Amino acid sequence: MARFSEKVNVTICGGGNGAHTLAGLSSLVENANVTVIDVYEDEAERWTETMKSMGFTVKFSDGESLYQKPGEVKFRVSRDVKSVVPKSDILIICVPAYTHETYLNLVSPYVPDACPVIGMPGQPGFEYQALTILKENDRKCTVMSVETLPWACRISKYGQEVDVVGTKEEVRYTLVEKLRQDKKTLKMDPASIIQTILGQKPKLYREKNILKYTFLCIPTIHPPIMYARWRNWDGKPLNASPLFYQGADEDAVKYMNGVTDESIEIAIALTKKVPDQDFSVVSTMQEWLLDHYTDQITDKRSLFTCLKTNKAYDGLLHPTTKTSDGKYVPDLTYRYVREDVPYGLIVIRQIAEMVGVETPVIDEIILWAQEKLGKEYLKDGKLCKLDRENGRLPLTYGIRTIEEFVSFFA
Ligand code: NAI
Repeated sequence: MARFSEKVNVTICGGGNGAHTLAGLSSLVENANVTVIDVYEDEAERWTETMKSMGFTVKFSDGESLYQKPGEVKFRVSRDVKSVVPKSDILIICVPAYTHETYLNLVSPYVPDACPVIGMPGQPGFEYQALTILKENDRKCTVMSVETLPWACRISKYGQEVDVVGTKEEVRYTLVEKLRQDKKTLKMDPASIIQTILGQKPKLYREKNILKYTFLCIPTIHPPIMYARWRNWDGKPLNASPLFYQGADEDAVKYMNGVTDESIEIAIALTKKVPDQDFSVVSTMQEWLLDHYTDQITDKRSLFTCLKTNKAYDGLLHPTTKTSDGKYVPDLTYRYVREDVPYGLIVIRQIAEMVGVETPVIDEIILWAQEKLGKEYLKDGKLCKLDRENGRLPLTYGIRTIEEFVSFFA
């Protein structure tokens, strides 16, 4: 059994798939004292009630099942930010990025300076958003941003059971101690705490270049698949939800490659602008999949075959809603669009603008997405101003140039 050498108060913010998995796994680490903060609708009450009678299980696709009996579940769910957060040794925000602002505003007045604040995942821009909100609350916390969720996971029964479909091989993170001008070291290394919770897999690697990290993140996977599948949809409901990753066709692959090709072009331009930082391994989507799912992919020949034969993607479907007559229509405002465009693609788009790289493929997807979301991110080929609730443009946080981006973290 994994263990911390001393008692660690772990606070998890969120109530979705990732938070369920994280709560189940971290609570089984010896010396962990885990509390979930969930302020969304009635989730805290539902989760608490269900666990009381049913216990809690994390189920893995290889058949392993980590079951905690009713009455013996080793974590609790609360909405009481004021009494839980001040006691935290580590605080992990595990929700879609469009909810980061809510949780950062809630916890920042109470989080101790010695407690690292972690976005797991952070997605592009978590670092400057978190640093800004913490600073506004006079906090000096270290900020860590984990590239993606370590698992592909889905809740099968709310508050009771979560299925881990796949576990990544490796995951990168950034660590920013900008607010800690006193240079006091942290009581505990946040990456070691997270690694202890995760166990053997995935392995965590630190990425020092935050600009490059922006390109490593997941937002380049989902929007091109959504765009390719639904841009010409005739509006007729379907008999079943199509497979998401494994259902991607050559058109989706073309758009995914288009986005990563543009990201690589931005990275080349960045290398010229910021020669002391390394952008050399901004990867293609195929390389990213092979790094993260190595042994789970049986046919590694192309991006198309990697998507089709990745076991971690087995059975994952397009987001849909059921009609009254039992058919399915796509949910075009699901987090694959609502999160990955305003907290992903538009961040990359502003960096492109900063270094003068044209991004026709990214623009095409953003224009489609903004119409579906009823927002305006791009107009006449230029990024629009956004307030904090609507996206995470560097501009919104006062970062207008690459020089300002680099000096923000210096
Ligand atoms: P999810 O879709 O399960 O998150 C939904 C939860 O977010 C809700 O249950 C609620 O607790 C919270 N939430 C939503 N709207 C809220 C609001 N207005 N105010 C407060 N809370 C609100 O998300 P999931 O699957 O846990 O993913 C978390 C993050 O991990 C996302 O960034 C996602 O893109 C990423 N990710 C997820 C993977 C997965 O397999 N689930 C795989 C890779 C990345």
